[in-house]
Amino acid sequence: MERRLYVETYGCQMNVADSELMLGQLGRAGYRRVEKPEDADVILVNTCAIREHAEQRIYGRLGELTRHKVRRPGVILGVAGCMAQHLRNRLIERVPQVDLVVGPDGYRRLPELIDEARDEPTLSVRLSRVETYGDLAPARADGVRAWVSIMRGCDKFCAFCIVPYVGGRERSLPADEVMRQVEHAAAEGFREIVFLGQTVNAYRDPEAGVDFAELLRRANRVEGIARIRFTSPHPSDMTEGVIRAMAECEKVPPHLHLPLQSGSDAVLSSMRRIYTMSEYEALVARFRSAIPGIALSTDIIVGFPGETEKDFEATRRAMERLDYESAFIFKYSPRPGARSAEWPETVSEEEKTRRITLLIEEQKARSLRKNETDVDRTVEVLVEGPTKRSQDEWFGKSAHFKTTIFPHRGERIGDLLRVSVAAATPHAILGEGVRAASCAGTEDVLV
Ligand code: 5AD
Ligand code: SF4
Repeated sequence: MERRLYVETYGCQMNVADSELMLGQLGRAGYRRVEKPEDADVILVNTCAIREHAEQRIYGRLGELTRHKVRRPGVILGVAGCMAQHLRNRLIERVPQVDLVVGPDGYRRLPELIDEARDEPTLSVRLSRVETYGDLAPARADGVRAWVSIMRGCDKFCAFCIVPYVGGRERSLPADEVMRQVEHAAAEGFREIVFLGQTVNAYRDPEAGVDFAELLRRANRVEGIARIRFTSPHPSDMTEGVIRAMAECEKVPPHLHLPLQSGSDAVLSSMRRIYTMSEYEALVARFRSAIPGIALSTDIIVGFPGETEKDFEATRRAMERLDYESAFIFKYSPRPGARSAEWPETVSEEEKTRRITLLIEEQKARSLRKNETDVDRTVEVLVEGPTKRSQDEWFGKSAHFKTTIFPHRGERIGDLLRVSVAAATPHAILGEGVRAASCAGTEDVLV
C-alpha cells in the first residue's frame, strides 16, 4: 500500500536540505509526499533548537498536529532535527503523542525507524562522527536553488550555541560526492547551488586535497549553473584562497554572509568566537579590496551575559563602520547544554528589547540607503517566480542577494535577467514599472 508523507520544516537552510534528504530516502521506500497533514499517514516535523523561541513555536505546532492522531490513531507523528536531538525522550514526555524522535544523524534508517515506531515509541539520537549522507540523493523541491550540505556538525563551540551538541563533530563530504551532487542538480535544471554547513568554509577533503576554495572553483566549471552561494562561513576559517576563488569565479556573486555576533572584543572573547574586532575588520578589508562592491550581511546577538552598555555601543559602531547590506539580529537566549546557559543573565528582557530595537531601526535605515545605491542602475537577477501578491510581478535575487521585484514580461523561472532599478525599500529593490506597495512588510528579522 502506498504510504503518504507530510513534512514540515523549521529553522535554517540546512534543515531545508535535510528535509529534502528525508523525502528522497522515504520516496525510495515507497512514500509519496502530500501537501497537507490531514492527507498523511506519516507526519514528520523537522525542527530547530537554536533559540528558545523556535522551540516554543514547534511545541505549539506539535500540539496542533496531535489532533490528526486523535482522528486517525494509525498516523505516525515523528520529530526530526536539532530539537529532537536536544530533548530526546523529554520530548515524548512532554508530547506523549510523538511516536518517533530522530536526530540529524539518523535519517539513513528513517524507513525502518518509522516501521518500528508503529509498534512502540522510537528514539534514534546517536550522533555519528562520519555520517554525511553523501551517497543519498535528496528529493529537491522545484525552483532555481539547490542546497548542497557539504559538511555537517561544528567544532567551534561558541559559548551561546548548541549546534555542536546537537549536530555533532565537524565532518565534510568527499569532494567527489559534492561534485556529483552539483552536476546532478545542474542536470535537473537547477541554476543556483548553495553550499551549506555550520562553518561551511572549514570544508576539507584531505584525501582528495580539496579545500573550500577548490570546491568553489570546481563548482564554477559546472555547465548550466549560473550562481554559487554558500552559508555560513566562520571568520576564523576564511583563507586567502577563498577570497581569491570568490574574486575569480564568475559564478560566485559578490555577496558574503559573515556572522559577527558582537562588536566588542570583550564579548567576542567570552562568546569564544576566536577572532577580535580588528581581525574581523582586516578580513572585511581584504574582501572589499579583492571584490569591489561586495555586499555584506551578518548575524548579531544582543544581550549576551556580561554585555555592558559600552559593549553594546561598540556593536552599534561596528555595524555602522562595516556598513552591512542586511543583518539578522537576535536577542540572546540561553540554550540548556551550551556553555553560557550556566552563566547568569545580566541583561534584562526590557533592555534586550531596547538594544535589538535600536539595532534593527539603524540597520533598516542603512539597508534602505544601501538599496538606494542600486536605483538608476541595472542589476542581474536570477528569476525565481511570481510574488505572492501578483502574477504580473515576479521576483528573484540580484547578485548582491537583494530581493528584486520586476514586472513580468514573459521571463521564465531560472532566467538571468537584467532589471533597471527604479526604487528601493529596506527589504527589496524594485524594477521600473513595479508598484511600490508590492513589497511592504516582507521579512521582519532581516533588515
Ligand atoms: N541566542 C541568540 N542567538 C543565537 N544564535 C545562535 N545561538 C543563539 C542563542 N543562544 C544566532 C547566532 C547565529 C545564528 C544562526 O543564530 O547569531 O549566527
Ligand atoms: Fe554555533 Fe559557533 Fe558553530 Fe556557528 S560556529 S554553529 S555559532 S558553535
